[in-house]
Amino acid sequence: MRKIYMSISLFLMAGASVLQAQTQIPEVEEILGKMSLEEKIGQLNLVTPGGGVATGSVVSEGVETKIKEGNVGGVFGVSSPEKVRQAQKLAVENSRLGIPLLIGSDVIHGYKTTFPIPLGLSSSWDMDLIKETAQIAAKEATADGINWNFSPMVDIARDPRWGRIAEGAGEDPYLGSQVAKAMVEGYQGDDFTAPNTMIATVKHLALYGASEAGRDYNSVDMSKLKMFNEYLPPYKAAVDAGVASAMTSFNDIHGVPASGNKWLITDLLRERWGFEGFVVSDYTSVNEMIAHGMGDLQDVSALAINAGLDMDMVGEGFLTTLKKSVEEGKVSEEQITKAARRILEAKHKLGLLDDPYLYSDESRPEKDILSEENRAVARKAAKRSFVLLKKHENTLPLAKDAKIALVGPLANNKNNMLGTWAPTGDPQLSVPVMEGIKNVAPDAKISYAKGANISNDTTFAKNVNVFGPRIEISEETPEAMMEEALQVSKDADVIVAVVGEATEMSGEAASRTNLNIPDSQKKLIRELVKTGKPVVLVLMSGRPLVISEEMDMPVSILQVWHPGVEAGNAIADVLFGDYNPSGKLTATWPRNVGQIPIYYRMKTTGRPAASPSEFQKFKSNYLDVENTPQLPFGYGLSYTDFEYGETKASSDKLNKNGSITITTTVTNTGDFDGEEVVQLYIHDKVRSITPPMKELKAFKKISLKKGETKDVSFELTAEDLKFYNADLEFVVEPGEFEFFVAGSSDHEFTNEFTVEE
Ligand code: BGC
Repeated sequence: MRKIYMSISLFLMAGASVLQAQTQIPEVEEILGKMSLEEKIGQLNLVTPGGGVATGSVVSEGVETKIKEGNVGGVFGVSSPEKVRQAQKLAVENSRLGIPLLIGSDVIHGYKTTFPIPLGLSSSWDMDLIKETAQIAAKEATADGINWNFSPMVDIARDPRWGRIAEGAGEDPYLGSQVAKAMVEGYQGDDFTAPNTMIATVKHLALYGASEAGRDYNSVDMSKLKMFNEYLPPYKAAVDAGVASAMTSFNDIHGVPASGNKWLITDLLRERWGFEGFVVSDYTSVNEMIAHGMGDLQDVSALAINAGLDMDMVGEGFLTTLKKSVEEGKVSEEQITKAARRILEAKHKLGLLDDPYLYSDESRPEKDILSEENRAVARKAAKRSFVLLKKHENTLPLAKDAKIALVGPLANNKNNMLGTWAPTGDPQLSVPVMEGIKNVAPDAKISYAKGANISNDTTFAKNVNVFGPRIEISEETPEAMMEEALQVSKDADVIVAVVGEATEMSGEAASRTNLNIPDSQKKLIRELVKTGKPVVLVLMSGRPLVISEEMDMPVSILQVWHPGVEAGNAIADVLFGDYNPSGKLTATWPRNVGQIPIYYRMKTTGRPAASPSEFQKFKSNYLDVENTPQLPFGYGLSYTDFEYGETKASSDKLNKNGSITITTTVTNTGDFDGEEVVQLYIHDKVRSITPPMKELKAFKKISLKKGETKDVSFELTAEDLKFYNADLEFVVEPGEFEFFVAGSSDHEFTNEFTVEE
């Protein structure tokens, strides 16, 4: 009896909070009062006329007529103040109620000023910078008429086979949450009605990064404990930062695809987290529930709206079946009204109900888009995203008057600088590496040869080249190309080889099972090394690669991701030492594909390997490769060296309501000024559910002149140590904790404190 009473009251409470979330805005209620059922359903329809990048097999038809008939709530793939004005005019002047449109777009890492791919940006560990890039993206996109952004993508990704690892902030829930917050704040600002801010969308809710085997769109099956502790925090951080829209993912969660998952959209997102914005499906993800095995179009559309989904992207299942479902009693009109209200609230929030042409100022693009200042930030962001993976002797930085053999298929290439998901950017505006070197070091003597194709595999190249010629296979034979590269290297002081992945070798529907640098380029690298000259590999990729062979070679390796529109300039800034690299990896680099998934927050197991490198029978290790990764999370070198002093805590006891201060000293002991990302990791030694081996809890990026020493301190509270227990309560349990402060996750614990009862 008591149990029943409790669940009824919980149900009532839940209902109350839904009502609360549906704040009554008089202007919105007035419009709602005038709307027919069809017009309400029309608001839930998001269309794309197909001008942008269509990521599914369908694009919308008859968009103009549909807008006039009140059958469209939002449009994406339309940009420029004129075109957006035309679209708004159709809605405002030609539809019965004159409701303006949401104008969406995928502005993932910059609009026309393309910044590094998000995985690269996260490697800067610089939240102010990340926020600044989002602010600039919002300024440029709104200048072009866009008021709703399908970003940030905050999916935790621990499987580099998955191409979309490029689009997020890597593997860690804490870092991922900081990045999510910075991006939401950057896009949305503190005033939605300002013409240079836009609605952000946290995506893809949820767990999309855990697609089985790293194959895109694949199933996900995960315990609630793992979700809450490892995968959900960045989405929640975006909600806490006030994100106004959320996008569901393609995968299923506990057997129900996200777009029809009531637990996800209503119970978790709205009830538990208090999200008050609107939820949009991913591209045709409502319809895709048919293929998932959830019924026909009417069934899956009813499932989605009843789950709490508000807007249907491109598929038009809502538009074509919801009225019938209302008539048949499968969906209530109330449910549709709620969804329509949320879309109208978003339009109200943006100021569109007062001024539909707020984002159609024809004078803005010229001054706001691709300005010198914006490009300067792109250059700064790119150089701060690079990670120095290996230093060999003192090859780097290069002398500005060096004789350089510049080789590799990415050395003089514009098509692959922007990276994946840059549909609004123009590759032709990007600075190739050769040009950047000439800009930064005009006295350098450069001899160039392509040396190899990105790949010689024509089928692979065809699969990659869907959006344009990313992999161009030369007429010349591979042998002749190689010969030319060796020829130009003969007189050089140093060889700079720009190698790696083409832009669309990562990103959506770009999973790989082989994470090596492609064979054609590996052969080139081997031959270059044989010359005995100093070799610098400038490595481009949208994901962690397997580079065990290259790490064993006498070379220096600078990881530059896909750096964006200022690629060449930023790379040259770092190669010649105008900027000292300071990035750190945000996703682990495996030794081989067989180690995946591998990430620093793994658990110990009951049979931990006693030695990381030596095999032991009946321990948790492999016969053929050690447990450690090739390169750990948090890792990255600098031209200078940093030495960490003793770490101390203000107390070895932490009261549940108190805090302790952890302090260490860092000294720049090398020959260059530089920056270091100082990282604090903890380990909860005993708790009611098995803890991760290590958890990042705080970090600071500091700059140190050569010879300089600085104290770095972190304040830690019991709140910071909380986790979700077996009942999904967010708790800290008393007991012992270990911690260390270092420049990478790969360190031993040095200190301890106790959390008191
Ligand atoms: C992607 C989303 C994107 C949408 C609209 C989908 O294929 O998964 O991230 O926002 O297309 O372009």
